[in-house]
Amino acid sequence: MNEIRTIGVVGAGQMGNGIAHVAAQAGYDVICSDVFPSALDKAAAVIQKNLGRQVKKEKITQADADAIFGRIRFENSTGPLEACELVVEAATERVDLKFQIFEDLSKIVPAGGILASNTSSISITAIAAHTDRPDKVIGMHFMNPVPVMKLVEIIRGLATSQETYDATVAASKAMGKTTVDGRDMPGFIVNRVLMPYINEAAYALYESIGSVEDIDAAMKLGTNVPMGPLQLADFIGLDTCLAIMNVLHGGLGDSKYRPCPLLVKYVEAGWLGRKTGRGFYTY
Ligand code: CAA
Repeated sequence: MNEIRTIGVVGAGQMGNGIAHVAAQAGYDVICSDVFPSALDKAAAVIQKNLGRQVKKEKITQADADAIFGRIRFENSTGPLEACELVVEAATERVDLKFQIFEDLSKIVPAGGILASNTSSISITAIAAHTDRPDKVIGMHFMNPVPVMKLVEIIRGLATSQETYDATVAASKAMGKTTVDGRDMPGFIVNRVLMPYINEAAYALYESIGSVEDIDAAMKLGTNVPMGPLQLADFIGLDTCLAIMNVLHGGLGDSKYRPCPLLVKYVEAGWLGRKTGRGFYTY
């Protein structure tokens, strides 16, 4: 396995641009790819804005910010990822899409390269089976907002090698993150615990146990979390929350994971949270 110098990111959305940011800040060269040029433009703007916050708070200098941004190349195809020793996939949470991306990455990334997924719930073992190198496939689950949140959840598939695990943990630490190991079961640790909590908050609203504001205030002030569960759901994206609940429900087969009908309705309406201007709250 070659030393990791260049990290690729597939998908320039809210997770992808954050991963590109922290990887570049750690000194890696970064190739951030997305099929949509508009997503790349948006990612570049978000990274600049977040670097600007760090400069304003005097955590880094403007020269640092310029150097970090300068290490990120934006590409609207996956071809240039051939230069990477580690690629982190951060595309939409859809099984068919992830399988296709990993099939493609197998053909593009040289044989020694690690293929990581930022999936929040999908089986790493199943993703690995769609590659030519299951021993080099691993889950590298970052939290949103990536530049702020300290955690990377590491998930080994059935065939993931110790060498791949060690290199991925080392890269996560170089990015300033703390790692935990989660088993390759639906939702791993974070979403096995977090999503039923958010789903239950949606049920509390659905059953008129409390208003949106009161449910959030109860949990925020009552349990000292930075955001109430409904605000957090809007922040994560209701489509992502629903996709994860469906993975838990389908994968674990227990009715306690059934998605709240209100969550389903909101997603059907296109009320996906902050990113669409409406979710449990209006923005
Ligand atoms: N990107 C980068 N930095 C950001 C940011 C963003 N979108 N939003 C805020 N920040 C930074 C600020 O610059 C500030 O930095 P410093 O501490 O260095 O000064 C810090 O975050 C705090 O920001 P603010 O004071 O402006 O705002 P806040 O106190 O309201 O915090 C928050 C904002 C960090 C988002 C906070 O509300 C929070 O932690 N919320 C919970 C987030 C969470 O739970 N994330 C995990 C979701 S689950 C997940 O991601 C996994 C999954 O699979 C679904």
